[in-house]
Amino acid sequence: MVQYDFDGKTAVVTGAASGIGRQTALEFARHGASVVVADVDDDGAAETVDLIADDGGEAVAVHTDVTELSDIEGMVETAVDEFGSLDYAVNNAGIGGAQKPTGDLDEADWERTIDINLNGVWRSLRAEVDRMADQDDGGVIVNMASVLGHVGFQNASAYVAAKHGVLGLTKTAAWEYADDDIRVNAVCPGFIETNMLEEGGITSDEELRQQIAGRHSQNRLGDPEEIAAAVVWLCSDAASFTNGEPLTVDSGYRGI
Ligand code: NAI
Repeated sequence: MVQYDFDGKTAVVTGAASGIGRQTALEFARHGASVVVADVDDDGAAETVDLIADDGGEAVAVHTDVTELSDIEGMVETAVDEFGSLDYAVNNAGIGGAQKPTGDLDEADWERTIDINLNGVWRSLRAEVDRMADQDDGGVIVNMASVLGHVGFQNASAYVAAKHGVLGLTKTAAWEYADDDIRVNAVCPGFIETNMLEEGGITSDEELRQQIAGRHSQNRLGDPEEIAAAVVWLCSDAASFTNGEPLTVDSGYRGI
């Protein structure tokens, strides 16, 4: 197994109570980082902290709603107060949003998805670069986009628009903060087995599941571990010349 040296480093992961965020938090801890588990789901976040502790790692949970600037500021403060620095930040919290054709979406559907999936990444990134720019050795930020940051998907226009936006934000921030030794990248997963797909009715409908799996060259959905591996690689020194990159981990997904 590849081993990175994250000893003495601190990672913040939003949406870490479940799915990709939880696996990413576990992966950071396995490589020696202390982890701040940030989520609106306090029970799930506490479970992630317990899993990390069972594995011999160190983590704290902090209630964070990425639509609330004060929560995000509290998340960054927790990293610094508890562990002394903010070295890695993964802006992963997200929702699937309403599944309707574009013309049937009402303003509340549209705004909620954009507010969490795009504005939430921007709010988090803003607080994170502010802190990292004050540190001698900067930091690394990874924004969770999607293969739907590259291509369209029916009945998900707000989600697709938010993920395309996350890529634009990533590419721009990478240039803005490179002189502060901050790298900013994104990961664009294909369809991954998590609660989001369960709640969206994709994994619970066998026919739909097979159809979606067939859009990936390996004819399956991905595992959260396969995305967490990409995130920690981006944060490691092995990726020291990778900046502003939308790293796609999607088994060659064929879009519509
Ligand atoms: P998940 O539903 O397992 O995890 C999402 C987490 O975000 C949950 O713990 C939830 O409580 C948290 N969250 C939701 N709203 C929040 C808010 N306002 N503030 C803080 N936390 C909040 O889903 P999954 O799949 O692990 O999603 C993680 C990220 O990966 C999302 O950004 C999603 O768009 C992205 N993604 C997922 C894919 C998939 O197929 N599962 C594919 C591509 C990207």
